[in-house]
Amino acid sequence: RKVVLAYSGGLDTSIILKWLQETYGAEVVTFTADLGQGEEIEPARKKAEMLGIKPENIFIEDLREEFVRDYVFPMFRANALYEGIYLLGTSIARPLISKRQIEIARETGADAVCHGATGKGNDQVRFELSYYALEPAIKIIAPWREWDFKGREELLDFARKNQIPVAKDKEGESPFSIDANLLHSSSEGKVLEDPAQKPPEMVYQRTISPMDAPDKATTIKIGFEKGDAVSLNGAKMSPATLLKALNDLGRDNGIGRIDLVENRFVGMKSRGVYETPGGTILLQAHRAIESLTLDRGAAHLKDEVMPRYAELIYFGFWFSPEREMLQALIDKSQERVDGEVTLELYKGNVIVVGRESSNSLYTPNLVTFEDDKGAYDQKDAEGFIKLNALRLRTLGARSQ
Ligand code: ARG
Ligand code: SIN
Repeated sequence: RKVVLAYSGGLDTSIILKWLQETYGAEVVTFTADLGQGEEIEPARKKAEMLGIKPENIFIEDLREEFVRDYVFPMFRANALYEGIYLLGTSIARPLISKRQIEIARETGADAVCHGATGKGNDQVRFELSYYALEPAIKIIAPWREWDFKGREELLDFARKNQIPVAKDKEGESPFSIDANLLHSSSEGKVLEDPAQKPPEMVYQRTISPMDAPDKATTIKIGFEKGDAVSLNGAKMSPATLLKALNDLGRDNGIGRIDLVENRFVGMKSRGVYETPGGTILLQAHRAIESLTLDRGAAHLKDEVMPRYAELIYFGFWFSPEREMLQALIDKSQERVDGEVTLELYKGNVIVVGRESSNSLYTPNLVTFEDDKGAYDQKDAEGFIKLNALRLRTLGARSQ
């Protein structure tokens, strides 16, 4: 058995690595990706080597640009929000990790893949639906659903017995579970499990509190082409560079903190605290440029399908025909979503103060309350309203 493990280099996936070797006698291939989680990934190489992984079985890759260009940006074209609030920061990273794992399995002749998500969450579903979609006959190993460690203490014992380094501060319970990438940080569990209790300030990883943010607004301009952000304050930037720059601006202005209770795919409710500083700015800016450039019918239709599209991503159906069909619809709508949006960032708020586009549908002559020089005949409105009222008048007459 040869297994490609999604390996962060941290304690839990190191335990999984050893467990795979022991339980399955497996040859393990490790895959460590930089998705912008803000941690060095090179140390994972040393650790994997120390745990007996052959150099040719260690894969360490910087996927930041691919992540933002091919996953985050397509999703932002839809203005996707799950249950009205969650910007899907964890959900959107899973398909990319899964895709690379399957590719590496093919390159190395591995017959199995393994992830470190628990049997209670969404992530297991997202990883595995993606694996199966891309490689229908793949063998999947989900240690959290298989092993019989009861609790943290037994896991740590196993680590110590197997010479897996356990950092001093990891010996106790870590205060919550974190997942991070360029789009967001999520914190769940433990001290956050009571949804009535305010999260302690130490939960927040990548934003200052809005209450500590500057008393003066920061004004920025974001440029768009075909619905994707391409520039900041006039400077062209690659997708990942731009998102990183927006994250920094968001962090300094206390933007993008949310505290929510969401419905997991497997059925239970869970409480999460997320930070999506750059994404929160991007969403407002994108909606603003769409407000000028999208036709009403197009805009309303894409807003109708958005919750469905967001749910597909949350549930793990990125590699499904229905997600691709909706993506085609959304991408079609973005063909002329070009221009520039001016925003003020102020104490946790993102305030749109201007937008302009060479593809604008905004027509001053039509909308003006001043002399429109014959662009619009107000008398036309009378018949328009009368025909729209026809049914309502018929109904009104009946109920009198
Ligand atoms: N609840 C969020 C989601 O399902 C975040 C999951 C966080 N994942 C983690 N491994 N801590 O997308
Ligand atoms: C996990 O279960 O590993 C994290 C939470 C989730 O996937 O929803």
